[in-house]
Amino acid sequence: MTSDVLPMTGHAANQSASVSQGQDQSCRSMLAALAAQGELLVVDQEIDPVFDLSALLSLTHETCAVQANRIKGYDMPVFGNLLADLDRIAMAMNVPRENIQSALLGSIKTPIAPVVIDNPPVQEKLFEGGVLAHLPVPTFFSQETGPYISAGLMIARDPETGLGNASYARLKILGPNEALIGIAPNHHLAIMARKAADKGETLPFAVVLGAHPIIQLAACLYLGLGDDEMHCAGALFGEPVRMARCRTSDILVPAEAEIVIEGQIHADKTIVEGLVSEYHGMYENYGTGVLATFDCMTTRADAMMQVILPGYHAEHIYLGAVPIAASLKAQLARVILNVGEVAVTASGCGRNNVVVQINRPRPGQARRAMAVCWGAVSIIKNVTIVDADVDPWDLNAVELAKSTRMRAERDILIIKDLPADRSEPQEDGFMVAKVGYDATCRPSDRKEGYDKAAPPAASYERMRALLADAMPEVSF
Ligand SMILES: Cc1cc2nc3c(=O)[nH]c(=O)nc-3n(C[C@H](O)[C@H](O)[C@H](O)COP(=O)(O)O)c2cc1C
Repeated sequence: MTSDVLPMTGHAANQSASVSQGQDQSCRSMLAALAAQGELLVVDQEIDPVFDLSALLSLTHETCAVQANRIKGYDMPVFGNLLADLDRIAMAMNVPRENIQSALLGSIKTPIAPVVIDNPPVQEKLFEGGVLAHLPVPTFFSQETGPYISAGLMIARDPETGLGNASYARLKILGPNEALIGIAPNHHLAIMARKAADKGETLPFAVVLGAHPIIQLAACLYLGLGDDEMHCAGALFGEPVRMARCRTSDILVPAEAEIVIEGQIHADKTIVEGLVSEYHGMYENYGTGVLATFDCMTTRADAMMQVILPGYHAEHIYLGAVPIAASLKAQLARVILNVGEVAVTASGCGRNNVVVQINRPRPGQARRAMAVCWGAVSIIKNVTIVDADVDPWDLNAVELAKSTRMRAERDILIIKDLPADRSEPQEDGFMVAKVGYDATCRPSDRKEGYDKAAPPAASYERMRALLADAMPEVSF
């Protein structure tokens, strides 16, 4: 097996690679690990891809991953509900849960360039012509107007700079070789597609289904235009991502994914989409998307298709939320050196609400942190600042801080008419009011201090030892 090495950014690995070298970079190890701990439901009954598959994933989305082996009308299995909470994400990244953010942050700071291999598993089979007809693409929700590929990780290169980009976008199937691609105008893929259209060209791209979860998480990071998410994935693996060259373009795709569809984005050809579900659980009417056409598809010999249940469902929420939180932390850390963990909460749809931990905030820092969050990512609406003793991912703890450490007239900041993401449920003329809650202690607030009422640590230790004997199955 031969290999090319890509241009390097950050710490690049320079060696040749083959699939047999290094760790597993497919999604199959995660499925096997979930099966081993009883968190994978394997369904052998026939499931209808029109609504029933969606209902099955919806009923189980907070309980287990699902592998549906027989989809009516198709001979390809489907899996979904993989990264449905923080524990699953930690498991996929092979880090303790409390290290998820630092690992993602580290991957932004010290990326590792991929390597290119020949004979990749994802090219064991080649389909040409009518490629979408082979895929068991689900129709999810009553008012949507067609079947959607929801787990499509899109890879493209900037037509001016050649730099790479990976991100998610939906594809609504229009025919065996055609789909509508729905990309927000500010997303890098949309910018690249418009650059190509301005030159009278289409943008070559690849749709990857079923890559390793680390690659999926990296694709959701918010980086600068031209910063390649695949290099962050390499850092998260601790080794370069093994990539393969597409059959019809020079785009590189993860070699161990399940499926790659190769095609073109026609940014100048718009198509009315109809209602589409969003992360907040409701429908949006965005008007038009653009045309995508497909030239060929390559797959593993026994490929499975990944489905991410869209709308307000756990995997859709967490896959977006966790990388957005890490990306915000990277921005905040540039100007607020005492920033701690940053959470993007599930109750804020995994997109709208941020909680920022600051260690002993100095006067004005809470408001500065709010401004950084609103400036960095347009989808962020409500920002809460907490002290270092409050876990920002623990909504009870955050609510407790808001109810005990805040004075509304002093600590709530409302700014009218800031730019809203187009998905914002309350946007009016693409603007919305944004709210900041400063739920941190002020030294002047009350003489009693903020120590929690509790027995001394030594008593806890003695009683923990007692309980370890009395109830060994429970961890206290
Ligand atoms: C499962 C999933 C589906 C998504 N679907 C879409 C979509 O259909 N359209 C879109 O514009 N963004 C979608 N996103 C968000 C983008 O992928 C995300 O904002 C990405 O970071 C944008 O890439 P960029 O930073 O390279 O512009 C989705 C995210 C996830 C996690």
